[in-house]
Amino acid sequence: MTERTFSIIKPDATRRNLTGKVNAVIEDAGLRIVAQRRIQMTEDQAKKFYEVHAERPFYGELVEFMTSAPVVVQVLEGENAVARYREVMGATNPKDAAPGTIRALYAENVGENSVHGSDSQENARLEIAQFFTDADIVG
Ligand code: TYD
Repeated sequence: MTERTFSIIKPDATRRNLTGKVNAVIEDAGLRIVAQRRIQMTEDQAKKFYEVHAERPFYGELVEFMTSAPVVVQVLEGENAVARYREVMGATNPKDAAPGTIRALYAENVGENSVHGSDSQENARLEIAQFFTDADIVG
């Protein structure tokens, strides 16, 4: 089934000029980048985006990290895009990430792990709506 997921190329990756290399892994995996924008996330945006983790000990650092440099927000489209992108990203901690995944290739540690991808279709819809309108997405 063709579906959409939401992706962020995080500050550790943009800082190291890896946007193109991450996008190559995404495209080689058969996912299409149907919307993309480079932004400087505000503290409010980062806090809202990671609200689910508000009580976790790493929340403050996570918000600080996500606002520390530009990010690239994206909508990806393809067969089972949500699950497919989670596979392509690899495990949250790059030490556990399978070879060839974005996090195995590029992530620095569990916090600075290069990419975000939605974990469900419902979250994909909510996350896409936080950063894009329908008119921004050209499939
Ligand atoms: P999570 O939703 O568990 O992982 P994923 O990004 O793979 O969906 O966590 C969200 C982000 O929070 C994660 O990408 C990086 C950060 N994080 C930490 O900084 N330390 C941690 O111990 C965990 C679990 C996450």
